[in-house]
Amino acid sequence: MITKKDIRKAYQRHADKYDLSVQLYRLLGLRIEAYRSYTVDLLSLQKGDWVVELGCGTGLNFPRIMEKIGPGGRLIGVDITPGMLDVARAKADRCGWQNVELIESDIAAFHFPPKVNGVISTGVFGYVPEYDCVIEKASRALAPGGLLVIFDLKRPERWPSWLFHLYLGLAQPFGVTPAYFHHKPWKSVERHFPATRFEERYGGLIYISTGIAGIPTAGEIIEEMANLEMFPVPSPS
Ligand SMILES: C[S@@+](CC[C@H](N)C(=O)[O-])C[C@H]1O[C@@H](n2cnc3c(N)ncnc32)[C@H](O)[C@@H]1O
Repeated sequence: MITKKDIRKAYQRHADKYDLSVQLYRLLGLRIEAYRSYTVDLLSLQKGDWVVELGCGTGLNFPRIMEKIGPGGRLIGVDITPGMLDVARAKADRCGWQNVELIESDIAAFHFPPKVNGVISTGVFGYVPEYDCVIEKASRALAPGGLLVIFDLKRPERWPSWLFHLYLGLAQPFGVTPAYFHHKPWKSVERHFPATRFEERYGGLIYISTGIAGIPTAGEIIEEMANLEMFPVPSPS
């Protein structure tokens, strides 16, 4: 079984070449760049918005996000691999983005800031067994009307098995094994968000799942207040 340590090691090894290697998808005829832009556009971001990117890698989604939120917004990128974050940091420095915060963390252990306007994740949830819990936390962290958008891979039902195994062979250096395809994050989005949308492309290899956060229930508000030190729940004396 592939562990988080293995995944981190694989990405650490490939960090410098990552941006170049994703171009290989073009050779397979996959227009990944167009879907990246589409995914960010689905977040419907406004100037000044706060966005969390889960598993931000080298920051390939950053330029489009920054274009939308401007210098008054905030982008928090979370990733488990320090080498990937180093590349993302160099990119942010080169572009003079001072409102990008990069956090080295497993997304399963990440504490979301409250009332974010958007959460995005591209190509990550297949590595994270705790994806359901992360998606639930994202749904609670979003301001009402805020969006979570996931763009990722799934087992393409309409592909012949040999083609899928060819793809697996190409993606293996990045820790993509059959286990990646056991996760079904879009089901978690359907479970934890009041309004959702699901789209597939390339015979089902790629999916885009969107959740729109609703107004929290009274129970959720009480639970959130109990977690704030400002409003400690009084202990019986
Ligand atoms: C395929 S890359 C995607 C990077 C970026 N989102 C993109 O679209 O180019 C997967 C990224 O997920 C990160 N990752 C994998 N498991 C993670 C976890 N449990 N917590 C945080 N990041 C993780 C890896 O370090 C890597 O940077």
